[in-house]
Amino acid sequence: MAVGEKITISVIKADVGGWPGHSRVHPALIERAKEVLSEAQKEGTLIDFYVTYAGDDLQLIMTHKKGVDSPEIHGLAWEAFKKATEVAKELGLYGAGQDLLKDAFSGNVRGLGPSVAEMEITLRKSEPIVTFHLDKTEPGAFNLPIFRMFADPFNTAGLVIDPKMHMGFRFEIWDILEHKRVIMNSPEEMYDILALIGAKSRYVIKRVYPKEGHPIPKDEPVAVVSTEKLYEVAGEYVGKDDPVAIVRAQSGLPALGEVLEPFAFPHLVSGWMRGSHNGPLMPVPLKYATPTRFDGPPRAVALGWQISPEGKLIGPVDLFDDPAFDWARQKALEITDYMRRHGPFEPHRLPLEEMEYTTLPGVLEKLKDRFEPIE
Ligand code: 13P
Ligand code: 13P
Ligand code: MG
Ligand code: MG
Repeated sequence: MAVGEKITISVIKADVGGWPGHSRVHPALIERAKEVLSEAQKEGTLIDFYVTYAGDDLQLIMTHKKGVDSPEIHGLAWEAFKKATEVAKELGLYGAGQDLLKDAFSGNVRGLGPSVAEMEITLRKSEPIVTFHLDKTEPGAFNLPIFRMFADPFNTAGLVIDPKMHMGFRFEIWDILEHKRVIMNSPEEMYDILALIGAKSRYVIKRVYPKEGHPIPKDEPVAVVSTEKLYEVAGEYVGKDDPVAIVRAQSGLPALGEVLEPFAFPHLVSGWMRGSHNGPLMPVPLKYATPTRFDGPPRAVALGWQISPEGKLIGPVDLFDDPAFDWARQKALEITDYMRRHGPFEPHRLPLEEMEYTTLPGVLEKLKDRFEPIE
């Protein structure tokens, strides 16, 4: 492994049991997953790995040479989740195996419950990356921050003053209902991009690419977001998707501080209690990635890494463990109070169409026959 060679970074996560309720991951699950990955590292499958948590989601961060969607790497993640589930069952943790929805692994964890963000990249001389781990929310929660990082000159000064970034970036946007995608250019199509991604429960940013002429090859992603929707796999509400993302930084990409800046504004995302409420996304250090109040508010963890020339993960640096984000946390708590006072009313509770996969239709069903026509 060396600079200029291809390396793959895979972030794969699943909720395999909460401690207690949906609040956090028990350390024994992390230990078990570490043992599985450590074995794979000894056998040479992985170059490096790190296991952590965000709320009740077990997070595997791995580097390897197998490319994206590798059956070997996905199989390994699946095994780690299965083994951690066994521990969760022994301890009687809540929702043991929650996200392992289909017990039919055949080469890829996509569509089985876990969420995946992976990118194969040509290692730069210095490769700073940030992995984001969210709990109690959905993939569309990344739309606003990723847009700001790569398209908003009021967030990213580099778009204005760095000649390497001045031409902008390309966005791959998925329609997750219709299972279609479109690639759009920023800044040329900025308003069209926003027309789509503002509807964050349907259109989600999947990847960001550089344009022709950028030092990074045009077909190599500079950001990738997990887009798995659990309700689509399960057909009903089992938990929120709790997405992850990988973002590369510096040298013609947003600087580290430009990657983090969007999280200084705790924007409203859907998720929170029973996956059925809008609330602020609170940036937190790992020690506070433990949703409590009304099972929230939704949390974002940012881990900073440098990838060494050998492909090692040099980190993590717990990037939101900094007073610079205190105000965002305070603001998030203020919004939490404000939203909570709406109780069961929209827009704190999600609109009806987004409640389709929750337990609400069961309640409405019981009332169906009581309705009579109005003259
Ligand atoms: P680079 O162009 O080397 O990434 O530097 C930008 C920067 O970090 C300024 O804050
Ligand atoms: P998770 O998606 O994090 O498991 O949370 C589920 C829930 O219903 C919280 O109230
Ligand atoms: Mg859970
Ligand atoms: Mg979760």
